[in-house]
Amino acid sequence: MTQAKIGIIGGSGLYQMEALTDLEEVLVETPFGSPSDLIILGTLEGMRVAFLARHGRDHKLLPSELPYRANIYAMKSLGVEYIISASAVGSLKSEVKPLDMVIPDQFIDRTKTRISTFFGDGIVAHIGFGHPVCNQLAAVVGDAISALNFPEVTLHRGGTYICMEGPAFSTQAESNLYRSWGGTVIGMTNLTEAKLAREAEIAYATLALVTDYDCWHPDHDHVTVDLVIDNLKHNAVNAQKVIQETVKRLSQNMPESEAHSALKYAILTPLA
Ligand code: ADE
Repeated sequence: MTQAKIGIIGGSGLYQMEALTDLEEVLVETPFGSPSDLIILGTLEGMRVAFLARHGRDHKLLPSELPYRANIYAMKSLGVEYIISASAVGSLKSEVKPLDMVIPDQFIDRTKTRISTFFGDGIVAHIGFGHPVCNQLAAVVGDAISALNFPEVTLHRGGTYICMEGPAFSTQAESNLYRSWGGTVIGMTNLTEAKLAREAEIAYATLALVTDYDCWHPDHDHVTVDLVIDNLKHNAVNAQKVIQETVKRLSQNMPESEAHSALKYAILTPLA
């Protein structure tokens, strides 16, 4: 039974908004173990929405330790068809400033130690991933941000998200390499989620919230932990507004997405 069509993966602050009512915590067990935390179901703008704190509500899981498959499987089993993923990123371009918002449309994979497929163990499938983000969902998120008119935020529609393994940040040589590849922002989680969401036929878009310039930037060495935490807090408040406005727009029109039929030609193993 569908419990929520919209899923939100992000920081634990995201569901502490006044407009969210009828909260319910659900423990979803999956064949891939438990998700990062209980999933919070709530009503926002008339829609049931499923929230998951990516690193757990007590922030105990490293990017490499996240139960990515359990997280996406749990969303699917609640009936989720659209995932909006909010996450902190570093900037690889001078025009993308801390507090800006980016809606990436491409990813480059620099992860090393994660399983990023539901397939294998006897089932061979290859999903199309040339366009890893659902353009229709990304447009709704972008339009929501534009409508909110944040005075201090520039919205960047499109861009390449470099997904690194972490937990250490990049060396300066790596950071410059990613810049030479055309990277826009860098983070540690979203590509893995995007791949699994596509395999699960869930439309996926990222709301990337810039906390810092990565270490290529001359200002980087002057960035203090306090400043980054300030930016994180500021971003969390803005992200709540974006989520609410996006859900409001989705409640009026849930767009068609190619992601919803991603498996149509993907599975090569004959299924009895
Ligand atoms: N998340 C936030 N800032 C980051 C950075 N500079 N590199 C990787 N992940 C990040």
